[in-house]
Amino acid sequence: GGAPSDAVDGADLRIDGQRLWRRLMALAQIGATPAGGNRRLALTELDGQGRDLVTQWARELGCSIRVDAIGNIFMRRAGRLDLPAVMTGSHIDTQPTGGKFDGNFGVLSGIEVLSTLHQAGVVTDRPLEVAIWTNEEGSRFVPVMMGSGVYCGAFTLASALAAVDLDGISVATALDAIGYAGSDHIETPACYFEAHIEQGPVLEAHDKVIGVVEAALGQRWYTVTVKGMEAHAGPTPMAMRRDALLCSARLIAEVNAIALANAPNGRGTVGWIENYPNSRNVIPGQVRFSVDLRAADETTLGGMDAALRAACARAAADAHLAIDVEQVVYFPAQAFDATLIASVRQASDSLGLSWMPAVSGAGHDAVYVARVAPTAMIFVPCKDGISHNEIESAEPEHLEAGCNVLLRAMLAAARA
Ligand code: GLV
Ligand code: MN
Ligand code: MN
Ligand code: MN
Repeated sequence: GGAPSDAVDGADLRIDGQRLWRRLMALAQIGATPAGGNRRLALTELDGQGRDLVTQWARELGCSIRVDAIGNIFMRRAGRLDLPAVMTGSHIDTQPTGGKFDGNFGVLSGIEVLSTLHQAGVVTDRPLEVAIWTNEEGSRFVPVMMGSGVYCGAFTLASALAAVDLDGISVATALDAIGYAGSDHIETPACYFEAHIEQGPVLEAHDKVIGVVEAALGQRWYTVTVKGMEAHAGPTPMAMRRDALLCSARLIAEVNAIALANAPNGRGTVGWIENYPNSRNVIPGQVRFSVDLRAADETTLGGMDAALRAACARAAADAHLAIDVEQVVYFPAQAFDATLIASVRQASDSLGLSWMPAVSGAGHDAVYVARVAPTAMIFVPCKDGISHNEIESAEPEHLEAGCNVLLRAMLAAARA
C-alpha cells in the first residue's frame, strides 16, 4: 500500500490556538479572583465545577470518562487497536492565590489535541487519554501530587483518603461531596506527556519557546539545629563566644556555595530560620533553619548532601558548637525517557520552534508517572517566570506552540 494521506495520519495538523485560549479563559472563570488569578482549591465545589466543564468538553468529542478511587479523571479517545494508551494531562486545582495556567494548560492542551484529531477525523492506532490528577497543589490537602502519587504507588490510597484539611474534612468526604469518588481501575499507559508553563525565568531569558524537559530535580530538605551558649553581649569577649547565629550565617553562605559549585542545576536555599532567644543583647544560644538542596541527578544531589554534612561538622568543630542535621523530605531526581525527549525535540524542530533543554525544579504529576511509564514534559515560557501568583501570565502563541508540540509527540507515540 501507499503512504497514508496527511488527512488520515495527521502529520500536517495544527491545533487551534484560539480554541485552546478560549477554553483556558472559560475554565479560569470558575474561581476567578479580582486580581485576575484563579482560586480553585482541590476537591472544593469549584473544583467540581471545573471537572464538570472539562469532562463535558471531552464527552462532546466522544470520549469515555473514567474516575479512579482518588478522583483522578481519565478521558479516553479510542484508537484503532486495543493497546495501552498514550496519556497526557496535568491538574486543574490551583493555589489559593494561583494563576490561570499552572496545570490548566496541560489538561486543556490534551483536550485541544483530542479536539483537533476529532475535527480532522484522524483515528490513531493507540487510544489517547487525558488525565486530570487530583490535588497536585497540596495547599488544601497534604501531600502535594496526591492523585498521581496514589496512581503510581508512591503512597497508599487509604492514607490519601484519610488526609484532612484545616476544617477536618477528609479527602474521602470531599470527593464524595463533589461526585468524584470513582472506582475505575486504570491500566498503566504506554507513555505519558505533560505540557506545563515553566514557572521559572530561564526560557524567557534565553528567548526560547519550548523547554525540552530532561529531568526533574531531586530534592533533599533538612532542618539544621545549631546549639551554642547564650551569654551576655557585653562581658563576653569575641574569642570566648559560642554564637549559634554567627555559625548559622556562615552555614547559610556555605549552602549557597554548595549549590554554585554544582552549577547549572544545583540549587540551595535557606528559607526559614528561628533564632533563640532572639534578644538584642544576648549572644544567640540556639538556631534552627531549613535547607532545601536540589539537583538534576542523584550523584550530584548525594554529593551536595555530603558537602552540607561536612560543612556542618567543620563549623561545629571550629566554633565548639553542636550541630544536628535532620533530613525531612527526600524526592529522588527523576530523569525523563530519552526516546520521548528526542521526540519532543524533533517535534519542536519540525514545527520550526526555538527550544532548549530544560529541567523541572517544581513538582509535577509527571514526576510520579515517570516511575511507572516512559514520560516527558514540554515547557513553555510564562511572563517574568512568575507562577503561584495571580498575575501568572503566558503568551497565547507560546501556549499554542507547546500544544502543537504535544500533538506531534502524541501522534508519534500513538503509532503501533
Ligand atoms: C506545587 O505546585 C509544587 O510544585 O510544589
Ligand atoms: Mn502545576
Ligand atoms: Mn502549582
Ligand atoms: Mn507543581
